[in-house]
Amino acid sequence: MVGDELNIDPWSSTQSTDYSRIIDQFGLSSMANLSLPNPSHLHRRGIIFAHRDLDVVLEAQKTGGQFGVLTGLMPSGRMHLGHSMVIEQVKWFQNLGGDVSIAVADLESQATRGVSLEKGRKIALSEYVANYAALGLDPNLTKVYFQSSRSDVQRLGFQLGKRTNLNEFESIYGFKGETNLAHVQAPMVQVGDILHPQLEEYGGLRPIVVPVGVDQDPHLRLTRGIAAKTNWFNIKENNGPGVLIGLSVQDENADLLGQQPNGRIDKKKVASIFDMIVSDLSELGYSDINSNPKQGTIVVPSATTRDMISIRIKLLQLERRLGGMGLLAPSSTYHHFAVGLTGEKMSSSKPKTTIFLDDDINSMTKKIKKAYSGGQSTIEEHRRLGGNPDIDVAYQYMMYFFEHDDNYLSEINSAYRNGKILAGEMKQLCIDKATDWMKNHQELRAQTEHLVDEFLAEDAL
Ligand code: TRP
Repeated sequence: MVGDELNIDPWSSTQSTDYSRIIDQFGLSSMANLSLPNPSHLHRRGIIFAHRDLDVVLEAQKTGGQFGVLTGLMPSGRMHLGHSMVIEQVKWFQNLGGDVSIAVADLESQATRGVSLEKGRKIALSEYVANYAALGLDPNLTKVYFQSSRSDVQRLGFQLGKRTNLNEFESIYGFKGETNLAHVQAPMVQVGDILHPQLEEYGGLRPIVVPVGVDQDPHLRLTRGIAAKTNWFNIKENNGPGVLIGLSVQDENADLLGQQPNGRIDKKKVASIFDMIVSDLSELGYSDINSNPKQGTIVVPSATTRDMISIRIKLLQLERRLGGMGLLAPSSTYHHFAVGLTGEKMSSSKPKTTIFLDDDINSMTKKIKKAYSGGQSTIEEHRRLGGNPDIDVAYQYMMYFFEHDDNYLSEINSAYRNGKILAGEMKQLCIDKATDWMKNHQELRAQTEHLVDEFLAEDAL
């Protein structure tokens, strides 16, 4: 339905929280039917609610294959609790064996928020990276880099610009004629961020997962589309049984794939490509492979949908050997946003809406005391009708950030709904937990501050 479309704007200060509509409209997959190793509280509580191709990453993890995690930080303001959620997820993937790259989006921050590169660097190091060790990231297994000093990222973003156009930017981001081109370039750099870990110099072909808030999904849609457009081999479910493979002829590969400029087909070349595909696929254990070079297709009748990823990776490896980029579409996960303390969107530029990781206990306490509450307006009413934990910020913050005991959380949830716990009492419970959390975090931060440089990639030193 045109006109009834939801638009996600990654630069907006408001945020749609109509998550089931977001899942439907943008084709995200629900987390419900995945089984996760060692789920974190964000998984157990449904805060991470959707994904794209996370199964690809989990499969690699399960079978001892490599996988990477990439995220980015916008160096424009102070680091707050909301930002820590992504780091929690990065940590979870890191503990499962993923290698971690973190982009400092200093080019984006400069272009879209007017923060100089120098200032961006300072903010990134003192506000963000300094908190990472305290939040549990391993400096030896994490590489932080700057967009401005990693030319491979910029080059990739530039090169891949060829695979998209202004119409696509209009439909994804709603850009118009008057849109500043910095807003066109920033997503292309982000495409470079997301795809470059697959380059040989950065670890090579492997699944890469990008944990983000749903506001960043437009960038993922763009990146996944672009990656798919570069692929030389298409893989899809066959109409009959099995998986169907076809060639994607492009300027870069036409000659190699036997498509001559005069429109003729070089049958020898086509045959040799098809032989390569068959021989590579037989390494995966398929004995029955129907190769039909004339028709330009190969069918693997015994392959299932689940096998598609291993076939895809095999063919991307082949594409690389033949000179193509061999890019795998990134996987992603999406988390719900914690509401701001005031009930509006959490934002560094509105200090009352959030708790900064270096807030002192006093101002943190004051903020929670003033927080938006799901209680009734009088004690009598509250006892009678009960409160609503779903909109109570103090409860929500315990669930998102501070309370790690699920049983205790569900106890106070029902006690609040029953009216046994009053709104002020809920706030006090939150303040107590938050105080422990913040004290612990700030102590750890002081102890680990000297590790900042160890998080930096070589080109970031
Ligand atoms: N655009 C992101 C933000 O506004 C920052 C970012 C840059 C990023 N590159 C990324 C996030 C790659 C995830 C992946 O916060």
